[in-house]
Amino acid sequence: RVSIVDLLRRPAEIIGADNNAAHSGIPLPVDLYRPQRENSHGVELGERKALQTLTSAIAAERKASPAINTSTAEQTNAVITAAQRGFKAWNGTPAAQRAAILDKAADLLEQRRAHFLALLQSEGGKTLDDALSEVREAIDFCRYYAALGQQLFGKGETMPGPTGESNVLELRGRGAFVAISPWNFPLAIFLGQITAALMAGNAVIAKPAELTPRIAAEAIVLLHQAGVPETALHLVQGDGAVGAALVSHPAIAGVVFTGSTEVARSIHRTLAAKDGPIVPLIAETGGINAMVVDATALPEQVADDVVTSAFRSAGQRCSALRLLFVQDDVADRMIEMIAGAARELKIGDPSEPSTQIGPVIDAEAKQRLDAHIARMKQEARVHLAAEAPAGNFVAPHIFELSAASQLTEEVFGPILHVVRYRAERLGDVLAAIEATGFGLTLGIHSRIDDTIEHVIDRLQVGNIYVNRNMIGAVVGVQPFGGSGLSGTGPKAGGPHYLTRFATEQTITINT
Ligand code: SER
Repeated sequence: RVSIVDLLRRPAEIIGADNNAAHSGIPLPVDLYRPQRENSHGVELGERKALQTLTSAIAAERKASPAINTSTAEQTNAVITAAQRGFKAWNGTPAAQRAAILDKAADLLEQRRAHFLALLQSEGGKTLDDALSEVREAIDFCRYYAALGQQLFGKGETMPGPTGESNVLELRGRGAFVAISPWNFPLAIFLGQITAALMAGNAVIAKPAELTPRIAAEAIVLLHQAGVPETALHLVQGDGAVGAALVSHPAIAGVVFTGSTEVARSIHRTLAAKDGPIVPLIAETGGINAMVVDATALPEQVADDVVTSAFRSAGQRCSALRLLFVQDDVADRMIEMIAGAARELKIGDPSEPSTQIGPVIDAEAKQRLDAHIARMKQEARVHLAAEAPAGNFVAPHIFELSAASQLTEEVFGPILHVVRYRAERLGDVLAAIEATGFGLTLGIHSRIDDTIEHVIDRLQVGNIYVNRNMIGAVVGVQPFGGSGLSGTGPKAGGPHYLTRFATEQTITINT
C-alpha cells in the first residue's frame, strides 16, 4: 500500500504499477483501458467551423420543434414491466458480449463526436472545451466499464475449500435498475450510470434531466445501435414527478442517482417505504467544496487552479470550488491575482470556440444566482463583480466572507467565496470544512508535506487534489464520488463501482 508520504516524495510514474496492484485487490484493467486524455486531440479549425454550423442548426431545430414529451404514468409502468422481462436475457448474455457492445458504443461516440459536441453546446450550453472533455469522459466510461466488467463478471471467483466442497462466488445483475441523471453532464454522467448498470447485467430505465432530453434521446439510440437490446434499455422523459414515480415502483431493483442532496434523501425515503424487495441507492450529490492555500503555495499556480476550479463550466460542476481559505500573510496578493485572471475570462456564446464561460442552464438558475450575488453584496466584501452579457449569463464573482459559516448552501455557479485564516488557526479551517457536512472535493495548495498529510488525515472527503485544480476527475484514474451529504460513496470510474450494481451469489457444490 502506498502512503501519502510516498506519494508526496516520489513521482507518480515511479509509483504507478505497484500502486495499481496494491490498491484494491481487484486487478485493474490497465492493459485494456487507457483514458482518452492520453490519446485524443483537440478540435481542428475546419472541424470548429463545421461544428458552429451544426450547433446553430440544432439550436434552430430546438426552437422550432416542441419539447420532448413527458412519459405518462401508464408508459412508465409499462417500461418497468418490459425492463423486468428484458433483464433475464441481458443478465444471461456473457460478460464479454456485453463488454463488446459497450466498446462498440464508444466507437460510435468517437465517430459521431461532432454531433454530440454540437448537442452539448446547443442544449447544454457547454463551451467547446467542456463539450470536448465531456465526450471524452463518456467514451472513457464505456471503455473502462467494459474492460473492468469483463474481469469482474466474466467468471466466478473460486473460494477456499477447507470444507471439502467447491465454492464459487459470482456477481450478477440485480434486475430493472433506475438511472436518474443531471443536466450538468447530460452525456457523460447519463452514459456513465447506464453503462455501469448494463455491464453489471441489469436492465436499465434511464430518466435524464428534463432540461437536456435530446442529448439523452440520441445517446439511447446510439446504445441500441451498438447492440444493447431494446428490452434491456429504456428511456423515460420528464421532471421530478416522473422520477418519483419510477423510484416508488415495487418492481425496481436499484437506483443510481446524481443530483441534489435533498432529492437523494427523498429517494432514500421512498425506497425505504415502498413494497417489494429492499433495493440499494447509489447517490452522488453536491458539495460546498473547499480549497486551503497556505503561505508556501506558488501564487501563479494557485491563481490558475482557483480560476479553473471555481469558474470553468460556469461553476456548474459538483466538484467546483466554492470556499477558498487563504492564509492571511499572502491573501491580498493571491486574491488580487485570482480576480485579475478571472476578469480576463471570455464569457458569452458557447458556440464561439474562444468562449471560456457559457450560460448557466436556465433563467431560473440565473435568478437564483443573482439573488445570492445581491445578498453577498450586502454581507461580504466584494473583490470581483464582473458584468455579464444579456441572457442567462452570470459573470465570475469573488466575495470575501468573515466566516465560512456565512455560506450555508451549495451555490451552483461561478461565484467564489474567500475566507482568510491565520496559520495557527488551520484547525479552525478544517473544522469549518467538516461543519459543512459535505465531503466531495478538496483542494490543498502547500509545499509543506506535514500540512498536506495533516489535512488529508483530518478530513473525510471523496476526492482530494494537491497542488492542482480540483475538477475533471479522469475515469479509471481518479475514481469520483463523495461521502456525508455528498453521496453514498461509490466511486464512478473506479474499480469497485460495478459491484455496487450487482448481487453476489455463492455456489457450494459437494463434490
Ligand atoms: N466528475 C466531475 C469532475 O470531476 C464533476 O461532476 O469535475
